[in-house]
Amino acid sequence: MKNILVTGGSGFIGANFVRYLLEDSGLRDKDYNRIVNIDLLTYAGNPENLDGVKEKFPGRYFFEQADICDAKAVDDIVIRHQIDTICHFAAESHVDRSIAEPDAFINTNIRGTFNLLEVFRKHQDTIELFHHVSTDEVYGSLGAKGYFTEQTPYDPSSPYSASKAASDHLVRAYHRTYGLPVTISNCSNNYGPYQFPEKLIPLIILNAFEEKTLPVYGKGINIRDWLYVTDHCRAIWMIMNHGKRGETYNIGGRCELKNIDVVKTVCNILDKMKPLTNGGLRQDLIRFVKDRPGHDLRYAIDCTKLENELGWKPVETFETGIKKTITWYLENPGWVNRVKTGEYQSWIDRQYDV
Ligand code: NAD
Ligand code: DAU
Repeated sequence: MKNILVTGGSGFIGANFVRYLLEDSGLRDKDYNRIVNIDLLTYAGNPENLDGVKEKFPGRYFFEQADICDAKAVDDIVIRHQIDTICHFAAESHVDRSIAEPDAFINTNIRGTFNLLEVFRKHQDTIELFHHVSTDEVYGSLGAKGYFTEQTPYDPSSPYSASKAASDHLVRAYHRTYGLPVTISNCSNNYGPYQFPEKLIPLIILNAFEEKTLPVYGKGINIRDWLYVTDHCRAIWMIMNHGKRGETYNIGGRCELKNIDVVKTVCNILDKMKPLTNGGLRQDLIRFVKDRPGHDLRYAIDCTKLENELGWKPVETFETGIKKTITWYLENPGWVNRVKTGEYQSWIDRQYDV
């Protein structure tokens, strides 16, 4: 794996992954030539997420603004940078947007993945690995008991998860039909620095900090399995290096929490870090709002395969990870304020008719 193409490297997890590869993975100069980030810079892509990286790693990190749906552009980048490995993050990623405007999800998540696979099929002789980053949402919803394993049948609920399921099937089909060397990972909910504040945790952090209302869907009883983003990045890198080709690995934090408890935890931490001037509690800002249509009740990942085969374990607990995350948002008001202008505000306004 000498020349690695990261798609969607300017988004939340992609940017953390590029930083992890260059700064923390132990990848040394002699191990690789270059990391190339291809990103369209949609509303979710932010060049600031990788500020300073090009300067810190001269001749090692390259950015290419392009659409993964543009096969010619991707082919040109693969040839120019002599790419032999791909880690594919680029996607439309927000469930609520997929319910409101599904079109882009079908295009980027299905057509875009198909395009990448076709380009890599063309260069199959020189390709070592296509790693596909996917989600636990392809498995649908759990009841009160049980876990998602790699054998759980696909049963997606939203246009987002259906489009990710389709992309997973395509990646698997290219392995079985054309022998393309692939690995797939299906991960639970991530949180951490650089996450676009349309997602629950950064939205609640920013609203709670600014003493705005905290929207909780339905009764707040839906459960997600939370994982700090760097633990996800480390798992992906382990799978890329040591995972069996053609195999799928589930990644999760063994950290199931009800949404209402996540929101209350953020409120409590912020109350301690930045007490309200009137002495009040941020929990009082919680408002139960209309539920998400098709809202999956519970996600919980069984990641025994990843733990036993590759020896992965998360480093962060929710307690340590959420404190780091809140601190990061408080310490980066410039990033926050720039992200909140334009598209972000118009999405929030469309959501709550303010
Ligand atoms: P994100 O929305 O923060 O970032 C997506 C990135 O993809 C952005 O930089 C965007 O500009 C880019 N992009 C979108 N369409 C593109 C196109 N047509 N061509 C090129 N670039 C394009 O998403 P994220 O939360 O970082 O998620 C990354 C991947 O991880 C996705 O595939 C998602 O399904 C998966 N995933 C996310 C989570 C999570 O909790 N966020 C959990 C499991 C899996
Ligand atoms: O499970 C992995 C998935 O996690 C990823 O594949 C997706 O890309 C990622 O967006 C995330 O999906 P969720 O829908 O679970 O994440 P979100 O942060 O949007 O919502 C988390 C939970 O919080 C969910 O049950 C809906 C609820 N919610 C969300 C928002 C934005 C609220 O109650 N209020 C909110 O304002």
